[in-house]
Amino acid sequence: MCGIVGFTGTREAAPVLIDGLRRLEYRGYDSAGVAVSDGGTVNMAKVKGYVKNLSEITHDGADLKGRIGIGHTRWATHGAPNDVNAHPHLSSDGRFAVVHNGIIENYALLRQELTGRGYKFASDTDTEVVAHLLELYYDGDAKRAVMRTAARLEGSYSLGVLCSDGRLFAMREQSPLILGLGVGENYFASDVAALVPHTKNVIYLDDGEFAELTPDSVTVYDVLGRAVEKPVSRVTWDVEAAEKGGYEHFMLKEIMEQPACFKATVEPRIKDGRIVFENFDLTDEELHGINRVIITACGSASYAGQVGRYIMEELCRIPVSVELASELRYRNPIIDKHTMLIVISQSGETADTIAAMRECKARGARVLAIVNVVGSTIAKLADHVIYTWAGPEIAVATTKGYTTQVAVLDMLAIYLADRLGLMEKERYDRLVDALHAMPGQIQRAIDLNRNIGRLAKKFCRHNAIYFIGRNLDYAVCMEGALKLKEISYIFAEAYAAGELKHGTIALVEEGSLVIALACYEPLFDKTMSNIEEVKARGAEVLAVALEGSRKILSKADDVIFVPRTEPVFNPIAQVVPLQLFAYYVARERGCDIDKPKNLAKSVTVE
Ligand code: BG6
Repeated sequence: MCGIVGFTGTREAAPVLIDGLRRLEYRGYDSAGVAVSDGGTVNMAKVKGYVKNLSEITHDGADLKGRIGIGHTRWATHGAPNDVNAHPHLSSDGRFAVVHNGIIENYALLRQELTGRGYKFASDTDTEVVAHLLELYYDGDAKRAVMRTAARLEGSYSLGVLCSDGRLFAMREQSPLILGLGVGENYFASDVAALVPHTKNVIYLDDGEFAELTPDSVTVYDVLGRAVEKPVSRVTWDVEAAEKGGYEHFMLKEIMEQPACFKATVEPRIKDGRIVFENFDLTDEELHGINRVIITACGSASYAGQVGRYIMEELCRIPVSVELASELRYRNPIIDKHTMLIVISQSGETADTIAAMRECKARGARVLAIVNVVGSTIAKLADHVIYTWAGPEIAVATTKGYTTQVAVLDMLAIYLADRLGLMEKERYDRLVDALHAMPGQIQRAIDLNRNIGRLAKKFCRHNAIYFIGRNLDYAVCMEGALKLKEISYIFAEAYAAGELKHGTIALVEEGSLVIALACYEPLFDKTMSNIEEVKARGAEVLAVALEGSRKILSKADDVIFVPRTEPVFNPIAQVVPLQLFAYYVARERGCDIDKPKNLAKSVTVE
């Protein structure tokens, strides 16, 4: 996912822009650049590689004079990562510089038209068409050129536009762009993390809107160029929230933050012992009109959905399926107004998830989004939004994002079951009490596994690890396996324990490592049999079991204990040691834990 920053004020822009880009590095990128101006000329530097390379060639921006500017970190979509394809891109006359996040779907046609008009392209990017369109439409009024250019673009984009006359614009269409309001200076960025060091007062642009920024003013316009009033939001977290806070990696910090994030997500939604949602107000008729639920997401978010599916079916007695967004969007799904689509996404910007959501919305589904980023594309497209309040998640491999997603799904299942008249008050109250107790249980899951580094050291040389479990345990296996794959690069796969005998057990041999989750007590004995099956073939078994489950010690070679919680909440406690196990295994293997190879924090392109 590309990063965008913009600045206008009375101090030199380049150092501010470069610092802003550093705060967006976690999103994954392959090149970086800035362009600045004081009115008159545009000074630009861009380079393949990292922000530190950009800083080196510009002496941290000191070589670039100008108090207005734009900056960019690029995650290549069209055109290889190299200096030429890096952003910003200039118009042929050098008057405009542009940075872009998203995809201009009709760039090929535009490029053909502009080439036919004599424009020369320097890069292979879709973005460069914007720079030349601005030049084509410029007649002395940069704002009009911006509007006419926007009218030609199709696709998703957030754009920063710098004009050599000193005017600065930000444009949003289906890709996040946030304005930061300072004192004597103003900013924009694709992510609040780049704004928080300067201001907590922000404005979230909506699709179709654009803004002009000066050091003393920020004006937002609608697609017709009419000024619109926008609410100013207050960012609730500090700069250090997006810093490591003394931990070696963001991932470890975010694992340790989970008790607090669970509490922040749940407590504000329990009022006088009742679960309430701020933006999910179905009437009884609408609620009873839902005859199926589809949960769609990618990666870990889809595995949170797998946990939610078991719980929602169990409590709400309504058919629930989990569909990978990249499959659902192309499957010509059978959906109508009686379908509720639950979209789960930490970033709110994952391209496949957005596309699946649009597909289902177009077919009449009612859409509820569970997202962690306020003002994100998915949040804006949904009919209802329940935010996870995990704060900024920087590590590419999600942890607190996942557990707070499961927390929301748990609350939602209890809420819906109660609304549907399927839950007695005693059980409702017990579950709400258990929600209050969960932050302590998550902390206990951390405390019980302070020595998990020992197990990581013992098992970090395996090149294949099998996770097995049943029901909720199986759902957690999926996330445990993905965590290990993502950051330690060990082949790991989750298998329904009952499936072993249908093929996978052929892979189990002397010394194979099998991680068996045995917390779902109704099927504990079945899982114990599976442990015996793999042991009989020579496997070593690391079990995950509830505190006090003594029987497991008779079969498993090693055991990770987790606190006994209300059964439907077990997955939240169970996943914590699996996160820690993956973290310490990756650390033993010397992997780049916060920025695993080939992965990005949010895949905003297909
Ligand atoms: C992947 C991330 O790129 O996208 C995963 O590495 C994440 O951690 C997945 O689960 C989906 O992202 P999001 O933002 O839609 O939850």
